[in-house]
This record gives sequence, structure tokens and C-alpha cells, in this order.
Amino acid sequence: MKSSTYYCSLASFFFCLYHLISLPNLAFASSASNSLTEAQALLKWKASFVNHTSHNPQLNSWVYLPNTKNSNNPKIKANPCIWTGISCNADGSVTNITIVNSSLQGTLHEFSFLSFPNLQYLNLSLNKLFDIIPPQIGSLSKLSHLDLSSNQLYGRIPPEIGHLRNLTILYLYRNNLSDCTYYAYYYVTNHM
Ligand SMILES: *[C@@H]1O[C@H](CO)[C@@H](O)[C@H](O)[C@H]1NC(C)=O
Ligand SMILES: *[C@@H]1O[C@H](CO)[C@@H](O)[C@H](O)[C@H]1NC(C)=O
Ligand SMILES: *[C@@H]1O[C@H](CO)[C@@H](O)[C@H](O)[C@H]1NC(C)=O
Ligand SMILES: *[C@@H]1O[C@H](CO)[C@@H](O)[C@H](O)[C@H]1NC(C)=O
Ligand SMILES: *[C@@H]1O[C@H](CO)[C@@H](O)[C@H](O)[C@H]1NC(C)=O
Ligand SMILES: *[C@@H]1O[C@H](CO)[C@@H](O)[C@H](O)[C@H]1NC(C)=O
Repeated sequence: MKSSTYYCSLASFFFCLYHLISLPNLAFASSASNSLTEAQALLKWKASFVNHTSHNPQLNSWVYLPNTKNSNNPKIKANPCIWTGISCNADGSVTNITIVNSSLQGTLHEFSFLSFPNLQYLNLSLNKLFDIIPPQIGSLSKLSHLDLSSNQLYGRIPPEIGHLRNLTILYLYRNNLSDCTYYAYYYVTNHM
């Protein structure tokens, strides 16, 4: 990346940061969720990747349990907590999605942000994610670490990221984002 192209002055950085964090904190509808909803959301996202069948062997564990795809008991259909890159809390709800340097090629459009009410860590760095960062990312209300660095994301940094009250680490460097990306590598204070 030509560093001069997306350079913005310190003044405009603080201007942007001000707008990023000063938006009113909207109350998000809490979506009832369980591991099946989360599993379905992850599988829908995986299915949207370019060449997901041939190119992402590391996601082979992301499947419904054998012979349960059409089971009437949703509780045993899928357990995302044992999938590669996924960790859960004691209630079986996803808290950590870490898929780094895995040649993921796709977008975040099919990532159902509303389906992960307990997600705290989202690390998708060093992949080939492209297109925009959807504004719905602002609904991950428990998120503390967000790392989308070293992808091919473009467009503006959605101001909805300012809704993430518990965000302490935000890495967006090495993308093709248009505003203030030069500085998009910082620790956010806990009291935005
Ligand atoms: C997808 O895989 C096919 C067959 O392996 C290949 O020909 C094609 O170029 C791949 N497409 C992309 C975008 O990687
Ligand atoms: C999240 O998961 C990754 C890989 O599974 C692991 O390396 C990392 O320590 C986890 N982070 C937290 C905060 O639990
Ligand atoms: C990413 O993965 C490739 C191949 O597995 C490896 O050679 C490379 O060192 C990794 N890069 C980083 C930054 O971990
Ligand atoms: C944010 O973090 C604080 C302190 O760790 C915690 O008490 C609070 O429940 C968190 N809020 C959300 C929405 O996760
Ligand atoms: C994401 O994972 C990479 C590779 O393991 C690591 O270097 C980076 O610190 C992680 N990001 C966060 C926010 O934890
Ligand atoms: C980065 O964005 C510019 C302007 O929108 C575009 O012309 C360029 O092709 C993009 N580069 C990549 C690698 O996506």
C-alpha cells in the first residue's frame, strides 16, 4: 500500500475518532441465541466463501453432526464449540472466533452479526476478506477485541464500531479502507 495515499492528518484522525465514538449508544434488540443458531450462522457464512469446499480444509470441522442434519432434536444437530477456531462460554454460546492466516476468501455480508450476542474476540486477520465492513458489526455488544487486519476490505470504517462499548483492541491496518486507516491500529480506552 502506498502509505501516502491513505494518509490523513492527525487532526482529521481525531475528528474521525470523535465521530466514531460520539454517536449515541443504541440499544440493540437482544436476539435469543443458542448454539444451533450460531452454528447455522457460521455455516451460512462459510458457504459464502469463494471456493469454500476446495480452499478451506481447515474448516472441515464446521459441519452438522453426522446423521443429524434432519434430526428433530435441534440440540444435537451441531456443536460449534468443538469447531476449529471457535470457543464458547459455559452455556455453549460462541465467545471467540479466531481464524487467522487461513486463506479465507469472501465477504462479511453473510456474517450474521446479530447471531453472536456473546462474542468477545473476533480475529480474522491475514485472510482475503474483501468488500466493506458491514455496519451491523456494531451489534456485537460484548466485543472487546476486533482484528480484521491484513485483508482486502475497503470502504469507510463504519461509525457503528463506536457502539462497541467494551472494545479495547481494534486492528484494521493493511486493508484498503478509505478513512483514517493509516491510524487504524490503536487501543481504544474502556470508557469511550
Ligand atoms: C476456484 O477453484 C477452481 C477449481 O479449483 C479454480 O479453477 C478457480 O480459479 C478458483 N477460483 C478462485 C476465485 O480462486
Ligand atoms: C481465541 O481462540 C484462539 C484460537 O482458538 C486462541 O489462540 C486465543 O487465545 C483465544 N482468545 C481468547 C481471549 O480466549
Ligand atoms: C501464514 O501461513 C503461511 C502458510 O501456512 C506461512 O508460511 C506464513 O508464515 C503464515 N504467516 C503468518 C504471518 O503467520
Ligand atoms: C463490558 O465489560 C464490563 C467489565 O468487564 C462488564 O461488566 C460488562 O458486562 C461488559 N458489557 C457487555 C455488554 O458485555
Ligand atoms: C490475531 O491473531 C494474530 C495471529 O495469531 C495475532 O498476532 C493478533 O495479535 C491477534 N489479534 C488480537 C486482537 O488478539
Ligand atoms: C483500493 O481502493 C481503490 C479505490 O477505491 C481501488 O482503486 C483499488 O483497486 C483498491 N485496491 C484493492 C487491492 O482492493
